[in-house]
Amino acid sequence: MKINLIEKNIKKIKSDIEIIITSSIEKLEDKNILETIGFEAKDESVALLPELKKIYVGCEGNDYDSVAIAASTGIKKFNSTKFKSAKIVLEKLSLKALVEGTLLGSYTFDKYKSKKEKCKKQELNICVDKISSKLQNIFDESIIISKAVNKTRTMVNTTPEDFYPGVMANVAKDIADESNLHCKIRGEEYLEKNDMNAMLSVGRASIHESKLIHLSYKPKNAKKKVVLVGKGLTYDSGGLSLKPADYMVTMKLDKSGGCAVLGIMSAIAKLNLPIEIHGIVGAVENMIGGDAYKPDDVLTAKNGKTIEVRNTDAEGRLVLADCLCYAQDEIKNIDYIFDFATLTGACVVGVGEYTTGIMGNSTNLKREVVSHATEAGEYATSLPFNRFLKKTIKSQIADISNMASTRYGGAITAGLFLDNFINEENKEKWIHFDIAGPAYSEKAWGYNPYGGTGAGVRMTLEFLKNIQK
Ligand code: BES
Ligand code: ZN
Ligand code: ZN
Repeated sequence: MKINLIEKNIKKIKSDIEIIITSSIEKLEDKNILETIGFEAKDESVALLPELKKIYVGCEGNDYDSVAIAASTGIKKFNSTKFKSAKIVLEKLSLKALVEGTLLGSYTFDKYKSKKEKCKKQELNICVDKISSKLQNIFDESIIISKAVNKTRTMVNTTPEDFYPGVMANVAKDIADESNLHCKIRGEEYLEKNDMNAMLSVGRASIHESKLIHLSYKPKNAKKKVVLVGKGLTYDSGGLSLKPADYMVTMKLDKSGGCAVLGIMSAIAKLNLPIEIHGIVGAVENMIGGDAYKPDDVLTAKNGKTIEVRNTDAEGRLVLADCLCYAQDEIKNIDYIFDFATLTGACVVGVGEYTTGIMGNSTNLKREVVSHATEAGEYATSLPFNRFLKKTIKSQIADISNMASTRYGGAITAGLFLDNFINEENKEKWIHFDIAGPAYSEKAWGYNPYGGTGAGVRMTLEFLKNIQK
């Protein structure tokens, strides 16, 4: 889908069809027809009038969600026709929501279909009275952001057979080449030499070598330093604490945090942000086998802390523990350190499948992150740590256990586990994003398709864009 921003009256633009987003049919010239066909301008309602060459889309609010969902609804209808070009008038709509709703809503993934959807080369012309530099900027940024989200979705959707740690590392290299980033890939020898025994153990039963990916972007005018760490479990079978069959399906999603980090890194150079940004991904496959790590093992992480393994399915926190240590050993004077992970089923139970759980030690930073998430069109909510939940991850034989002694508050106890691997000076600079719910869905919602959604990408880019202000 190609989108153009055009400074012209809509009537003067030649397009095959017009999309009209509206909250009411009362003042519309086609009111009678729309009434006849029962179109009520409700959210997610759409009417195609092919003879009049119009698509009407209902939209009850003017917020990001309503407009992006309406854009997505309209564009899907347009995509289902043979019309090549469409036009829409911006008027009071948010340009960001319109562009992102269009590009995110028209995403498809047909890598594994023998009948590919034909590349239709459709285009959308957005008509505005005047293209100010501010508007042009919003337009350009929204396209970059949407592309990063769609890139992330495609990585997540790719099967574990085709996307194992080595492939993830190659994708990172490609992103680095395209975007002028520096890229370091480390294998198991490095993990062993550098005492990253927690991460190393998780991948031990896999035939695929674990990879530590480190991308960096260092512009000359950098004002801040940000580190993004991602859980890149290219498959999570649960390990010896094997997942039941029904729960294992979809576990290719467990690389979503790492994919989000790669997606974000693919956009930052294009956005020209004056920030030094590091993207670190622990790419690992959690499998079973004679060499598998076991419940009862005690692992030593890079910072020397010992971890009692009580469940090999709580593997993400082990990988992240070492990646967080690596990040803080390698990078000094960090301003923000964020980690992204499909870490717990408990987070999905707690806040629902559409919302990211935000955890950390700074109330202000958590509030800021949640607010940027909302601005970016993502749902996020803060989950509070407390001293009593902290006690539940104590171990009798090691420094800490990888599983809490209580069944309750699993998202928070996982967050508290990670806190053990955050250095004192970074405590208030750290945020943990549990994206287990929104990262992947087996039913499409709003402008999100079946499968990977790219959760975390838009909210983080929004945060980064606003950092210097
Ligand atoms: N990758 C899963 C979490 C997950 C579950 C993500 C559902 C997306 C959807 C993670 O590695 C896991 O299995 N966590 C366990 C932790 C438990 C064993 C302490 C969980 O959530 O059950
Ligand atoms: Zn697991
Ligand atoms: Zn996992």
